[in-house]
Amino acid sequence: MHLCDFNISNLRCISQTSVELDKGINLIIGENGSGKTSFLEGIYLLATGKSFSAVKRRDLIRDGTCRMGVAGVFVSSFGLESKIKLEKSYSETNYTLQGQSVRKTSDVAAKIPILVGNSRAADLLTDSPKARRDLLDRTAFHVKPSFLSIWQELRRALAQRNNVLKSGYSSNQLCYWDKLVSEKSNEMDAYRKEIVDKVNYFLTKSTLKEELGDVSFDYYSGWDTNFPLLQHLTSNRESESRIGYTLYGAHRADLRIRVAGKSGAKRLSKGQLKSVAFESIIALHEYISENGPAKPIFLVDDLSAELDNVKQRRLIGKILRLSGQKVLSSIQPDIMEFLDNEGHKVFHVKQGNIT
Ligand SMILES: Nc1ncnc2c1ncn2[C@@H]1O[C@H](COP(=O)(O)OP(=O)(O)O)[C@@H](O)[C@H]1O
Ligand SMILES: [Mg+2]
Repeated sequence: MHLCDFNISNLRCISQTSVELDKGINLIIGENGSGKTSFLEGIYLLATGKSFSAVKRRDLIRDGTCRMGVAGVFVSSFGLESKIKLEKSYSETNYTLQGQSVRKTSDVAAKIPILVGNSRAADLLTDSPKARRDLLDRTAFHVKPSFLSIWQELRRALAQRNNVLKSGYSSNQLCYWDKLVSEKSNEMDAYRKEIVDKVNYFLTKSTLKEELGDVSFDYYSGWDTNFPLLQHLTSNRESESRIGYTLYGAHRADLRIRVAGKSGAKRLSKGQLKSVAFESIIALHEYISENGPAKPIFLVDDLSAELDNVKQRRLIGKILRLSGQKVLSSIQPDIMEFLDNEGHKVFHVKQGNIT
């Protein structure tokens, strides 16, 4: 999958731009504050309907204007085109795929695999479990087409179960939802375990071992798997009813990094966290490329911060060798040294203008 024609209007500091991206490597070069992150943000917004930097709606819209828009054509490896458009005003969002309104952003997200490596990547390892679960689940969407509907069914079942718990439950009413939560959680669990195993395998092959020792993820299902989930759900109804939500299930899963036999990200320095985060995202990329129907689009926003020169160069080299479309931003034009004769384009950004 790659993004071909791409248009931006009034996104942060970018007033209007229209580019044709390369299906291989794209470098976005510009000084600090020139609009590199905004450009990558535009691609991510188009592919997912969401901001990767958690920027608020009003901050996405260029000052002095009342509406931003991004539009583009994504092309699959079979040449099938998906035309996507996203517009945001201060109060409304209009998101369309082939001219039809998109009801759920997850429907588009499941179609277009996209991964981001940016200054927030390291936070993934230290933030709440939700960020890691979301990344794992987005990876699953791109590889197992049935994962999305299982995930949606689990969410619906949990919402219903929580409603029953809150409204003074009866065992009869809960039985149905207990069974459904247990069934869908177990299906998601099996998919997620498979991904974590593969990602751990790719991590063993990365150069992290030389730097830090063995690095892998420990996966927690969201319940004590020594007992069936159904048992946890049926035997904890009273305490769950008091707090009003379901305490056990795939929605409570987590991933924790293990480095040289010790669990926990807090032991690592900022630079080490960034190395581990980038290698983990690369491992997800390799997993999706090998197992999914489409190769991911990889957005890399200014890799340089907190990494020494040797690590930067190693990571950039590795990212550029990955299959699929890559869009990398950099302050330093010397990133161009990495390019060989294979397909690439270089864009220069100056005060929101891209050439
Ligand atoms: N809503 C907005 N309207 C106009 N300019 C904005 C808006 N939001 C951010 N900017 C400006 O955009 C620039 C930041 O662009 P950014 O894409 O982060 O640059 P880079 O990644 O190249 O450092 C800053 O100068 C910032 O003040
Ligand atoms: Mg930036």
